[in-house]
Amino acid sequence: MFTAGIYTKRREELRAKMKNGLALFIGNVESPMNYPANTYHFRQDSDFLYFFGLDLPGFAGLMDFDTGTDTIFGNDFDMDDIIWMGPQPKVKELALKCGVKKTEPMSGLEKIISEALSKKRRIHFLPPYRGETKMTLGALLKENPCQMKTLASPELIRAVVALRSVKAKEEIAEIEKAISIAYDMHVTAMKMCRPGMSEREIFGVIEGIALAKGAGTSFPIILSMNGQTLHNHSHDNILRKGRMMVTDAGAETTLHYSSDITRTTPVGGKFSTLQKEVYEIVLKANTEAISAARPGLSNRELHLGACRNIASGLKEIGLMKGSADEAVAEGAHALFMPHGLGHMMGLDVHDMEALGENYVGYDEKTKRSDQFGLAFLRFALPYRPGHVFTVEPGCYFIPELIEKWKSEKKFPSFINYSRIEKFMQVGGVRIEDNVLITEKGHRLLGRPIPKTVRDIEAACA
Ligand code: GLY
Ligand code: MN
Ligand code: MN
Repeated sequence: MFTAGIYTKRREELRAKMKNGLALFIGNVESPMNYPANTYHFRQDSDFLYFFGLDLPGFAGLMDFDTGTDTIFGNDFDMDDIIWMGPQPKVKELALKCGVKKTEPMSGLEKIISEALSKKRRIHFLPPYRGETKMTLGALLKENPCQMKTLASPELIRAVVALRSVKAKEEIAEIEKAISIAYDMHVTAMKMCRPGMSEREIFGVIEGIALAKGAGTSFPIILSMNGQTLHNHSHDNILRKGRMMVTDAGAETTLHYSSDITRTTPVGGKFSTLQKEVYEIVLKANTEAISAARPGLSNRELHLGACRNIASGLKEIGLMKGSADEAVAEGAHALFMPHGLGHMMGLDVHDMEALGENYVGYDEKTKRSDQFGLAFLRFALPYRPGHVFTVEPGCYFIPELIEKWKSEKKFPSFINYSRIEKFMQVGGVRIEDNVLITEKGHRLLGRPIPKTVRDIEAACA
């Protein structure tokens, strides 16, 4: 945990943004895999972590904006718990670690919420994403548990998004630790990327690094020579020469801050001419987008700039034609890069996605596009100092999508369908880094992980 003062300050900042009522933060509970005592790896709720820091199941936090009191609800371990799970500090001691003096057993929550309901006090809560939390909220608030997401408080969501969007220095230090774990994961994957090696073996080794050095991965590892499937979670292939392996993997620190890095490695460690042609286009889009990142510029502008870079590169190698600017304006490049340039990153790898993407990345003035490709951009607003972003352009040869567009004769003035065939073996290329927006510009976070053709070949050798 950070020091108690950090959690107290975060709650004070939240209090300053909220007018009245109560805010209820339900921490996560253990979630069973196949029988109650056999649980998934425990992951605390990120908002509960942000405001209360306690990384244990079965707690709730309540902030009363009218009286200024904060309360932690939780049960002390009884002897059975101690026998099976070991001793744990009393709830009172745990609460003090996040600067909260008032504690109650979990059973006290129902009474306090019932009283608040009878007095018609406003009870703010964030959109729940787990069944268990929906059930708890539904029971406490006497509402249909299936409706809890729509009943969440827009006022609280906006206030939390405003706070969590700007990372403090201790958070940035954690993110850099997560990137340093990712460094080891990625360099190890590069070294193992040889013909005959199974994807599963590399996946297992780098997942092990994330577990050995932190709290595991920040999302299920994407590692495949079928990189054209953007979020490919299958690891069933044996690597073959001529293919490229996309590794999109990040770690969580023990305080649960994330990294999210992608590297694309030629199987065998040497790029072919064809692979290099596509790789250099994506690399240019990645490095130029990072160089341009600064406060005031929007992530949508950066995204469109990267797409223009991809389109003009693809024009040079004969896959696209016509004006790159016009192709991007019409969305033709999305055949090759159908996703957004990046997203915020912090306690969640897609930071605050559970609060609603449109609250995080869009506002009254900036509306989400419905154009294929651009519609997937998670964040379109201008950057501000303290924002942490991923920059992850890519180029993919997705057989089903290419076949569909070709048969529909989409964008014949921008796409050379006849030249695509020879590039299909490339699969996909994505290069992803994590960037902090500073007062004057940006800073590439963490120890740089090999990404030029030369550096990747050297790391593989
Ligand atoms: N790790 C998934 C992504 O890059 O968004
Ligand atoms: Mn990623
Ligand atoms: Mn990402």
